[in-house]
Amino acid sequence: MDKKYCKIEICDRTDPLELEIITGNLGPDVIDISNLYQENSLFTYDPGFVSTASCQSNITFIDGDKGILLYRGYPVEELAKSSTFIEVAYLLLYGELPNKNMLEDFSDSIIQHTMLNEGMLRLFNGFRYDAHPMAMLSAIVGSMSAYYHDTMDINSARAREIFAHRIIAKLPTIAAAAYKHSVGQPFVYPLNTLNYCENLLHMFFSVPAEQRDIDPIAAEALDLLFILHADHEQNCSTSTVRMAGSSGTNPYSAIAAGISALWGPAHGGANEAVLRMLVEIGTKKNIEKYIDKAKDKDDPFRLMGFGHRVYKNYDPRAKIIRKMCHKVLNQKGSADSPLLELAIELEEIALKDDYFREKNLYPNVDFYSGIIYQALGIPTSMFTVMFAIGRTVGWVSHWREMITDPNTKISRPRQLYTGPEKRNYISIDKR
Ligand code: SDX
Repeated sequence: MDKKYCKIEICDRTDPLELEIITGNLGPDVIDISNLYQENSLFTYDPGFVSTASCQSNITFIDGDKGILLYRGYPVEELAKSSTFIEVAYLLLYGELPNKNMLEDFSDSIIQHTMLNEGMLRLFNGFRYDAHPMAMLSAIVGSMSAYYHDTMDINSARAREIFAHRIIAKLPTIAAAAYKHSVGQPFVYPLNTLNYCENLLHMFFSVPAEQRDIDPIAAEALDLLFILHADHEQNCSTSTVRMAGSSGTNPYSAIAAGISALWGPAHGGANEAVLRMLVEIGTKKNIEKYIDKAKDKDDPFRLMGFGHRVYKNYDPRAKIIRKMCHKVLNQKGSADSPLLELAIELEEIALKDDYFREKNLYPNVDFYSGIIYQALGIPTSMFTVMFAIGRTVGWVSHWREMITDPNTKISRPRQLYTGPEKRNYISIDKR
């Protein structure tokens, strides 16, 4: 197919720039500027990478205007309805839906890796009782590079495969250990007769004194939430994993970097911030006051769980989670949850407000998810950890795609320098 080009006139230059336009399978075309500096001594400028495609990827597609989210081409709505998190993990990792045998083998492999090295478990004793679970999660995942030396060779396909299965399997165990540490209860080992989400609930809520029955509704809700959180294109934490991994560092350290990025309240930390915001708002009569705060340029307060860099329409995941909220709360016998009612009222008022409509600010994935987690008995400080469990599949899939891409090079952006020009040192007695 003939190549497409665009011409860009540059002031004080006679010849226009000619840059190739590349078309993907879905989504906007891109202007290839990879040789722009080398051939024209020019940088592009795009703080926050609002208009920048940092890589080529086959994993996830988002259309922010139409509210479309596809995992390897499959609409997230269909996967949420008919698939399971482990099957979606296989799809994101390998690119195709597995047949029955492939899924069984994959699931069995994941189950074999659920336990932690006992030395890693002892690391939890070093944390204060009130350490934030995300601090523990990033530290323990980073420590995996000190334990699992057999999967540090990024050039070995076998090592990459074991790493992928190992970290997906261990995230729930690490999350549960962080939770048990924070509530002063003994760690509960995984039970491999249970499925992925049942095992997580077992490790969270069982105690040595009694085996707790697993709530099937809770397991179903978690499985859905993990599917919806599994991947989201080049979001902040995934881009962080790609950037860290591009230096050739071991995969555990790259994932630990992603966990740190996810923790921010502008990103995955928003689900925890939404619950705290709803509790602070307290009652419906305070909603208008907080909507005004969110609109006030001089007030740093933002409506947490609202707005998105890509979705300028309703986040398709938020729609599904909102429905699941009602189902979980009805089955938990707390259908009239004041928090959910407050969230629904807040959403209705915000979506009628010109400020939110003009800026295309809609509820995102984080707006309702915390209400479900809370209904399942998971504390607010653990919400972003739950997000990380689902997103680890996406991080690993993107890391593998980046590592195995022959065009990958170390990520090293440039800058627009606005600092002082060259000047000479002045001795302290002359300052
Ligand atoms: C996630 O990227 C992903 O895919 C992320 C994610 C994933 O799955 O990985 O989807 C998960 O991180 C969801 C987002 C969770 N964060 C929050 O809910 C925090 C609250 N939202 C915002 O901070 C904000 O909306 C962002 C960070 C999500 C997006 O910010 P952008 O794209 O950089 O947009 P912006 O900050 O430039 O906002 C545009 C305008 C600004 O006003 P002006 O300066 O143009 O006058 O909208 C305003 C903002 O002030 N605005 C808000 C707002 N979000 C944006 N005003 C009030 N409340 C908000 N929530």
